[in-house]
Amino acid sequence: MNVFGLDVGGSGIKGAAVDTETGELVTERVRIKTPQPATPRAIVDTAVEVVRRSGWDGPVGCGFPAVIKDGVVRTAANIDKAAIGFDLAGALGQELGGPVTVVNDGDAAGLAEMRWGAGRGVRGLVLMLTLGTGIGTSLFIGGRLVPNTEFGHIEIGGEDAEYRASDGARKREDLSWEEYAARLDRYLHAIEDLLWPDLIVIGGGISKKSEKYLPHLTTRTEIVTAKMLNEAGISGAALAAVPDQPTEKAAE
Ligand code: BGC
Repeated sequence: MNVFGLDVGGSGIKGAAVDTETGELVTERVRIKTPQPATPRAIVDTAVEVVRRSGWDGPVGCGFPAVIKDGVVRTAANIDKAAIGFDLAGALGQELGGPVTVVNDGDAAGLAEMRWGAGRGVRGLVLMLTLGTGIGTSLFIGGRLVPNTEFGHIEIGGEDAEYRASDGARKREDLSWEEYAARLDRYLHAIEDLLWPDLIVIGGGISKKSEKYLPHLTTRTEIVTAKMLNEAGISGAALAAVPDQPTEKAAE
């Protein structure tokens, strides 16, 4: 089954049709800059444009950087506050004239990694971190997603963890890789002490440079790099729109 995957981010809105059996993109990826100000309406218009430019007509899954309950945006840590309470799935569905499923962006990336990437077949407790402007998290047990975890916002040293340990923090403060790795390590220790995962998967743009920080990490938990790299957001969003819990298959 092919589904169009949309990945809404702070700088770009990306999308492509995805073969949900293999996770591969079956149309060329389209990317349009996120409109500024990124009001919910402007995001809907741009997302619709991404779908239209791809010539897609069919089911759509969308990853969005906030807590999503029943298609409605419930938080806004890194996005326009006007999004809170916005029925994103409803608005996209109305514009596109078909079914749209909206999920948290970290959850979308995690679904893709569990099905096709680094978490494939792992039945224990898996935590996936998507390090970008913020810290997206997704948690799986027995291959099943526990949706909308927001572990990027645990408090460390009196501050929001993502403010100190996201890739955005590294760039904003111009941290060396060693300095950044120390921050990430502190965050990982805090989270492993709370959750005791069996595996931590690190994804996001930063996962391409894992050799810069992985050697400095001292956690007890096994840490691996995401395999799907940047496409996880798109493929996972598409997967989220497929009825029945998709990651189950990975563990059969
Ligand atoms: C948001 C999460 C989101 C993450 C990554 C955080 O600030 O609270 O919902 O998954 O950023 O975009």
